[in-house]
Amino acid sequence: TTVEWEAESYDMGGHDTYMHKEIAEQAEAVDRVLRGRIDDRFATVRLGGLNLDAREARTMRRVKILGCGSAYHAGQIGAQLIEELARIPADAEPASEFRYRNAVVDPDTLYIAVSQSGETYDTLAAVQELKRKGARVLGVVNVVGSAIARETDGGVYVHAGPEVCVVSTKCFTNTAVAFALLALHLGRIRDLSVSDGKRIIEGLRKLPDQIAEILADEQRIAKLAADFADAKSMMFVGRVRGYPVAKEASLKLKEVSYIHAEAYPASELKHGPLALIEPATPTVAIIPDDDLLEKNRATLEEIKARSGRILAVAHSEQEKADDTIVVPRNEPELDPVLMGIPLQLLAYHTALALGRDIDKPRNLAKSVTVE
Ligand code: AGP
Repeated sequence: TTVEWEAESYDMGGHDTYMHKEIAEQAEAVDRVLRGRIDDRFATVRLGGLNLDAREARTMRRVKILGCGSAYHAGQIGAQLIEELARIPADAEPASEFRYRNAVVDPDTLYIAVSQSGETYDTLAAVQELKRKGARVLGVVNVVGSAIARETDGGVYVHAGPEVCVVSTKCFTNTAVAFALLALHLGRIRDLSVSDGKRIIEGLRKLPDQIAEILADEQRIAKLAADFADAKSMMFVGRVRGYPVAKEASLKLKEVSYIHAEAYPASELKHGPLALIEPATPTVAIIPDDDLLEKNRATLEEIKARSGRILAVAHSEQEKADDTIVVPRNEPELDPVLMGIPLQLLAYHTALALGRDIDKPRNLAKSVTVE
């Protein structure tokens, strides 16, 4: 059966937009994706509908994740998590690109299609092509019983609940968490130690409260957003785990505020985009307190030297930044889940300051069911 919801029949619960409501719902949404899945005894998670046996999990040689837009970005976080925790080479690619390039389909690769709606045409077409070529395809999907959920061999439901705003927020966050669960599951079947399994589980359990903590800082983020409303363009940078967060934050800002934004790996700045940095082009830098902290601080210096305004999203105040949004510490692998959240609020409040039609941005549809 297909479960659907209509925007009109779905209560806004006192919020002025669905986007705001859905951002605010994230602590409980993450709680839902975790519920009933953690197995403390074996320091792992149980994923009922995955349909992947231990032999397959042990023998697969690669993981390829396919999705569009925010789903693709969440897939990039997923690929990094699978590589880190399960030590399987993994990458993500836009589903549309994949289907147009006549890709080699490898029997030892596990393919994963990611989609909020489960109806995105490009992602569905990629699944159908993979199935035709004999591949094993799993889904990481929000809408239960949707086309992609039906056509895949199994998978993980994201349980974000109804997402009405065209711009994805809570589903993006829940998808990243669903990938953390999948990565932990695969990792524990392969070489991930019990202590690392426990460490990630503890981190997962902390997420809902930490998300609530970030959301409680909304007024400060709203004030910062007012400063960005007249930006000509914005730059988002991050390294490794921070890079998909930067891409997603840049997409969010573009979609709702119509401010031009670019996302780059921080290490790529000096290979070209640094030419764009000047006072009217502020930078948002994702700077977790991990082993790349010093390199990221050096990037801030490079930006400051070109008089660029900097907003850091970090675990501690960053001296070189004009402002820092401090997010709570968790396990480093889970940083992308938390670091994206203040930037959803930044996009929302920038769009609000500009008087945009937040739930229905121009030229966009919630689910792109055509080619
Ligand atoms: C997200 O804010 C976008 N509106 C868009 O990129 C979306 O994520 C993409 O179209 C994929 O949709 P899906 O997750 O329903 O497949």
